[in-house]
Amino acid sequence: ELGRFEHYMRKEIHEQPNTVRDALRGRLRLAEASAQFGGLNLTARQLRRVRRVVFAACGTSWHAALLGEHYIEKLAHLPAEVEYASEFRYRNAPLDDQTLFFVLSQSGETADTLGALREARRRGFPTLAIVNTVGSTIAREADGGVYLHAGPEIGVASTKAFTSQLVVLALLALHLGRLRHLSYDEGRRLIAALEELPDQIERVLAIEPQVEEAAHRMVQATSALYLGRDLNFPIALEGALKLKEISYLHAEGYPTAEMKHGPIALIDPATPSVFVAPRGGLHAKTLGNIEEVRARKGPVLAVGTQGDDQLARLVDQMLPIPEAHPLTQPILACVPLQLLAYHVARLKGCDIDKPRNLAKSVTVE
Ligand code: F6R
Repeated sequence: ELGRFEHYMRKEIHEQPNTVRDALRGRLRLAEASAQFGGLNLTARQLRRVRRVVFAACGTSWHAALLGEHYIEKLAHLPAEVEYASEFRYRNAPLDDQTLFFVLSQSGETADTLGALREARRRGFPTLAIVNTVGSTIAREADGGVYLHAGPEIGVASTKAFTSQLVVLALLALHLGRLRHLSYDEGRRLIAALEELPDQIERVLAIEPQVEEAAHRMVQATSALYLGRDLNFPIALEGALKLKEISYLHAEGYPTAEMKHGPIALIDPATPSVFVAPRGGLHAKTLGNIEEVRARKGPVLAVGTQGDDQLARLVDQMLPIPEAHPLTQPILACVPLQLLAYHVARLKGCDIDKPRNLAKSVTVE
């Protein structure tokens, strides 16, 4: 089953052009520049009444929800909040009948997430789930939802489920946006960008040898910082989580500009920083932040837009991703970071598909 891949994690990273295609399949409504979902079980009228969106999830799914918050805000102009499922459940967080409540889970069996779903149901609110595993407990108990169709994810570190979650969240936000203020043209632009993703991911996967080289630069470190702003902040968090989980190298994700409020104290020649810095809003400020790290002799890797020579000159190594729509760029930016974690772990001889202390689905609280 592994074919030419040594580990499930690497196989699943390489499946992403197809899994993204599968997440999109049958869900685009070109004529209306919108999206459609079979199992949401909500009418357009009900969706137009929504005033707020709340997501609850854990781990990588929680990171996907953070991007979902951006998508909902940017496309649908609705306030969105992201909760750790384990916290939501015990917090008596306010929900009302104009709130759309989602849980996100790859496995559909995570106890904390299931607990959040049951708590919302107990309080009488309809629940929606974005789930990969068909027929899982969360999928069965939710009132409606969307499947990722990413196929079984076997590697303990979640990869392909994450990118599929991002695609589904973008589609949901598009749908909610088109029921409100989002223009036809903007909708069409996003759809075109989503349709380009499989080929673009293919191009990112082709830089794997460069990522391997970057992994050699990281492998001696004991700690690393991952920095990104706006939509790339959740990508920084996810990159850091992947590295921690499978290579046991300590990593922290921060919003880029937050670095100077504390974490910059960690910078030294043995502590690499990984900037998620594709071109786009605030790029000049990010370049300034990179210079601050350089001035303190910190090694710097960056995920950047192909052809960004200014960035490439400033860092030890740049991992290039194709130019893309601002909302799909983060989906591309996470792929080199998945590969980076994989190759650091491989160089360290770690058990990549079965990292210590972790289980594929966490069915205890
Ligand atoms: C990350 C990882 C975990 C899971 C988390 C939630 O690689 O595997 O952080 O993302 O336990 O799992 P699901 O999405 O199955 O609810």
